Parts: sequence; C-alpha cells; structure tokens
Amino acid sequence: VIDIRKLYAQTGMFTLDPGFLSTAACSSSITYIDGDKSQLLYRGYPIEQLAVKCDFLEVCHLILNGDLPNAKEKADFNHLVTHHTMVHEQLQFFLRGFRRDAHPMAVLTGLVGALSAFYHDSLDITNPKHREISAIRLIAKMPTLVAMAYKYNVGQPFIYPRNDLSYTGSFLQMMFATPCEDYKVNEVVERALDRIFILHADHEQNASTSTVRLCGSSGTNPFAAIAAGVACLWGPAHGGANEAALQMLEELLAQGGVDKLGDFVQKVKDKNSGVRLMGFGHRVYKSYDPRAKLMQETCREVLQALGLEDDPLFKLAMALEKVALEDDYFVQRKLYPNVDFYSGIVQRAIGVPTSMFTAIFALARTVGWIAQWDEMIADPDYKIGRPRQLYTGADEREVKDLDKR
Ligand code: ACO
Repeated sequence: VIDIRKLYAQTGMFTLDPGFLSTAACSSSITYIDGDKSQLLYRGYPIEQLAVKCDFLEVCHLILNGDLPNAKEKADFNHLVTHHTMVHEQLQFFLRGFRRDAHPMAVLTGLVGALSAFYHDSLDITNPKHREISAIRLIAKMPTLVAMAYKYNVGQPFIYPRNDLSYTGSFLQMMFATPCEDYKVNEVVERALDRIFILHADHEQNASTSTVRLCGSSGTNPFAAIAAGVACLWGPAHGGANEAALQMLEELLAQGGVDKLGDFVQKVKDKNSGVRLMGFGHRVYKSYDPRAKLMQETCREVLQALGLEDDPLFKLAMALEKVALEDDYFVQRKLYPNVDFYSGIVQRAIGVPTSMFTAIFALARTVGWIAQWDEMIADPDYKIGRPRQLYTGADEREVKDLDKR
C-alpha cells in the first residue's frame, strides 16, 4: 500500500481527478459496493436480507454501532430514538419565517442547520458521548422536521410525533393526520416506506456523504455538517433524481405514454437535447442497482395492496426500462435503473407529493451521514479535507495604475 502522505511530502506530486472517478478520499468500514456484481452490503450484511428481515431502526443501529441489535439492544435503541423525536417549540418560529411555497429542501436545510442553535449541550465533537447523542437526535428529529416542512407548505397544523407507533408509523401520521380526524397507519404502506428508508440509509462516498465529511473535517458541529449534506442531496443528479424521474414519467404519459417511448429514447440519446433518462445510470453500479430491484418489488406490492395494479406510471416505467435495457446506447454505457427510478412511484402511490421525495431521502440518509461523520471524527489521524487544484490562470503580472489599464 502506497502511503500517499509520504509520497506527496517526498515528491510534491498530486493527482488531478475531476469528479473523483478513481480517488478514494477515506477508508470506511460502513458500506461496501461492488458495482459490477450488483452488491451492496451494510457492515457486511446484504441489502436484500436487511430489506426483508429488519426494520429501519435495526438498520440504523447496525450502521451506527457496527452490528445488528439483539432483542434487548433493539428495545433500548427504539426507546432512545423515540424519546428524542420532539423538536424545541421555538424552532416553529424559525420555520414560519420561510415563504409558504418554499421548496421543502430549502426549509429542511435551514431547519437542520438551526438544530445546532438548540443543542449547545452536545457540540463538543471530541467527546464520543456528545457525538452519540447528536446522532440520536438527528435520526429521531429528522421525521419531525420533514413532516413540519410538509405541513407548513400545505397550510395545516403541525402534528406531533407519537411514541406508541413505529418510527415510520409516527412519521406517516405526522405527515397525514389532521386534528380533525384519526389517521390509521396502513401496514403495507408503513412497511414500504420503512423499506425505502433502509434502501437509502447509506451508500458510501456519494456526493452528499463526501460533503458531510468535507464540511465536518473542519471540526464544525454535526448539525452544520448534516445541513451541508442535505443541501448537496437536493441536486437533480443526486437525491433530486427521484423527483425528476417522476416528473419525466408524468410528462411522457401526458405526451402519449408507451406510444411515444421510441421518440423519447431517441431524444435521450441525442446529446444536443440535454435530456437524460432520470433514475438511470450510476457512478458505481455498472450493472443493475440492487436497490432498484427491491424498489420495483415494493412498488408492485404497494400498488397491489392499494388497488392500483393498473397504475399507468408503473406500466410506463417498466416499458421504458425494457426499451432502454435493449438499446445499444444504454447497454454500451452500462446504464441501468437506479434506486430513484421506482421510488417516486411508490411514494406517489402512498400520497407523498413529489416535492417531498428528496426530503424523505434526506431523512433516510441521515443515519449514513452521521455514522460516516462519526467514523471520521473518531479516527485519530483524520485531517481537514483540502483538495489541491491544477491552476490554469494567468502567470504572475503587475497591477497597473487605474489610468493605465
Ligand atoms: N441518460 C442518458 N445518458 C446517460 C445517463 C442517463 N441517465 N447517465 C449517463 N449517461 C451517459 C452520459 O451521457 C455519458 O455518455 P458519453 O460517454 O457518450 O459521454 C455516459 O453515459 C457516462 O455518463 P457520466 O455522466 O460520465 O456518468 P457519471 O458516472 O458521471 O454520472 C450519474 C452518474 C450522475 C448518476 C448519471 O448517470 C446521471 O446523470 N443519471 C441521471 C440522474 C440520476 O438518476 N441520478 C441518481 C443517481 S443515484 C442516487 O443519487 C441515489
């Protein structure tokens, strides 16, 4: 193994690798991806098994602590999380400063960053106990914040978390209950959303996680670092892709659906059109994204349970996938559906508006972000992230007096 630090000290050499196509920025023991084999492991466990045998909080325990909880550890962890779900009432006044029509991701970026103003008691990042309680607070409060952003947007009163429900059940009722009527959590919907959370929980050094690490490497507090991750996730090439994929399918349906697939795929293949097939392609997966496969199954289950088997968007998505997977353009570039291709259809079926998709992704990815941040801070050799650059500007020159320029 080459010691890059020594090599740099001895030679002054560095690599230019735009987009980090072949540069590892850290070592990590949390998530493993083999993009050619469609393999995704959290702490060594295959995503396919975690998705069917565990709930989201078990997966959070795994990602944070390194192993799945036993029954007692599970009960303790659930108790800990459910007793940190409330946010300070004062936070509502901060939220009310946003325009009603603000995008929920704009609101969420602000709210998560603002948490650092409320939890001064846990900002000593050198103290593992402080880091632990910050992690629990973030995981516990994220559903509350996401639901508040939604309720504010639609002009309904905030609904408080309910500790007698599951993590996901409580989130669903914060989103969809109103003070006027009871809301009964549908078990199939609860399980589907829980699975969406599991599938999005971590994905090694993607753009938002790298952002959290880079931001956190300056020693800033975890709430600020996670807010940076939320901001990065918002982009359409990353977390915003599920929103973009659904919009793409809806537009395609309005323009004629399956009959227009051929024209649409031609447009995607034309580089001058600027159109990409959203929910397709991945930097690491050069075969089928295993999360997309699980998401497709979940989609089928949810639509069936809700009596929406003939959902035209699902049919269109499957037809589009088939056309793309048989087309040379996609085959040669190894472009397959990613997790975002089907997740929007599931969320739409369970009543989540498109504008909330990325916020829900952020909720789920919070555990990955905070575990990666903690792993970095706990490493005694961690350094502030400070990429170099290849300078392409002017040579040194003299500043002329104003009348001579
Ligand atoms: N539609 C059409 N062509 C594509 C697509 C796509 N979705 N994705 C990649 N390509 C093409 C590129 O045009 C390029 O073609 P070329 O070699 O002829 O120039 C080639 O495939 C490689 O593409 P890059 O952009 O270099 O691949 P990169 O690894 O940098 O990008 C990314 C990966 C950003 C995910 C890309 O595939 C994309 O934009 N996909 C659509 C957005 C999306 O679904 N994002 C979600 C990612 S998963 C997640 O964040 C949870």
